[in-house]
Amino acid sequence: AARALIFDLDGVLTDTAHTHYEAWKQLADEIGVYFDRDINERLKGVDRLASLRIILERAERSYSAEEQLELATRKNSYYVEAIQRTSPKDLFAGVDRVLADARQAGLKIGLASASRNARTLLDKLGIVDRFDYIADAGAIRHAKPAPDIFLDVAAALGVPPSHCIGVEDAAAGITAIHAAGMAAIGIGDARALAQADVVLPDIAALRLGDVVSS
Ligand code: BG6
Ligand code: MG
Repeated sequence: AARALIFDLDGVLTDTAHTHYEAWKQLADEIGVYFDRDINERLKGVDRLASLRIILERAERSYSAEEQLELATRKNSYYVEAIQRTSPKDLFAGVDRVLADARQAGLKIGLASASRNARTLLDKLGIVDRFDYIADAGAIRHAKPAPDIFLDVAAALGVPPSHCIGVEDAAAGITAIHAAGMAAIGIGDARALAQADVVLPDIAALRLGDVVSS
C-alpha cells in the first residue's frame, strides 16, 4: 500500500503552468520568436534553461550562454512579479482536502517541483507547513524526465519508491515518476498524459481511498 504522496506543484496544486506560459510568451514576443501553447506543452515540468532552449529552437540566430542566462533571468523576473499577489485562494479546488486526507491516512507528503520558486509559492499559497519535505530544485543533478527529484523526495521521506505515488501534470514528470519506480497519477489532458497509470481531469477528482489501497 502507498505510504507517501509526492506532488508536482505548477499545474497540479495551482494554475502556475499558465503563469509560466505567460512569462515565456512575453519574453518570446520581445525577442521576436514564435511561441504558442502547443510548444508550451513541451516546457511543462522542464527546468528554466532547458525551457529557454526549446523556445530558442525557433530563433533566427544563436544566443551565447551569457545571453541565454540574461533571457532566462528576464523571464523569471516576469514570473516572480506575476506570483507576487498569490494567496491561498489560488489553490486549486480540492488541494486542501487531498492534503488533509493524506495526513489523516498517515501518508508522508512531499513536493517534487522543478521550480526554484517552489518554496516561495507554497508559502504564498499557505501550505508550506503541510509538506514533510520539499525538494530543492537547484540541488538536483538531472532534471525531469530523469527520476532524480522523485528519488530525492522518497529518500528524504524514508519511503521506498515502490510505496510512493507521484502526481504530475506534465509528460516529462510522468516519465520521471515511472523511472523512479513509482505509480503515476496524471492531472489534466488524458492524451498528453497517456503514460500515467491513472489520469484525472483535475486534483479535485483525486479520492485518496481509490489510490492508496491499490
Ligand atoms: C516547473 C514548470 O514546475 O518549473 C516549468 O512546469 C518551469 O514550466 C520549471 O520552467 C522551472 O521553474 P522556475 O520557477 O525555476 O523557473
Ligand atoms: Mg507541473
